[in-house]
Amino acid sequence: MAEHLETLITEEALQDRVGELASTLDRELAGEPVVLVGVLKGSLHFLSDLARRMKSDSQIDFMQTSSYHGRKSSSGIVQIRKDLDINIEGKNVIIVEDVVDTGITLNHLRDLLSTRKPKSFKVVSLLSKAGARIVSTKIEHVGFDIPDEFVVGYGLDYEERFRNLPYIAILREG
Ligand code: IMP
Ligand code: MG
Repeated sequence: MAEHLETLITEEALQDRVGELASTLDRELAGEPVVLVGVLKGSLHFLSDLARRMKSDSQIDFMQTSSYHGRKSSSGIVQIRKDLDINIEGKNVIIVEDVVDTGITLNHLRDLLSTRKPKSFKVVSLLSKAGARIVSTKIEHVGFDIPDEFVVGYGLDYEERFRNLPYIAILREG
């Protein structure tokens, strides 16, 4: 089936917003160290850009969940495919997400990681689709609120494609 991309957030707008988020997080950390937890694979460029713009002393780790199985809507079941290597007890932890859609993945991660007694726990998500929530969820910092459309680029994929785009686009079919 034919498909086309419609730019939603330009590369420049992404980079400006990531810089603002980095400054905000640094200010909130007030000189304390942090563990940045990227949720694979979608957060890859966001985490990389954010971490390089932040001045706080940081450790980087990754988690991988799966609920989509290559399809365009959530299965509602979250599996942990890769867990943290770092022990986060007593540490400031920031989850770095690409997009919060139904909220199911984020709530699962929040519940799981809070049992490990971090000193503080926050979530920064580049994108949020408030109109798509199935469960209510807390996100401390959102880069952009977007409509309930399927988007790709800047790490986000459709069947593993389009992650390399430096901008965010709506994927339209037909
Ligand atoms: P949620 O559990 O429905 O909030 O979504 C969890 C994950 O689904 C996100 O972290 C993304 O990896 C993926 N996802 C949700 N919406 C999109 C989208 O529009 N494009 C690509 N991936 C998405
Ligand atoms: Mg994700």
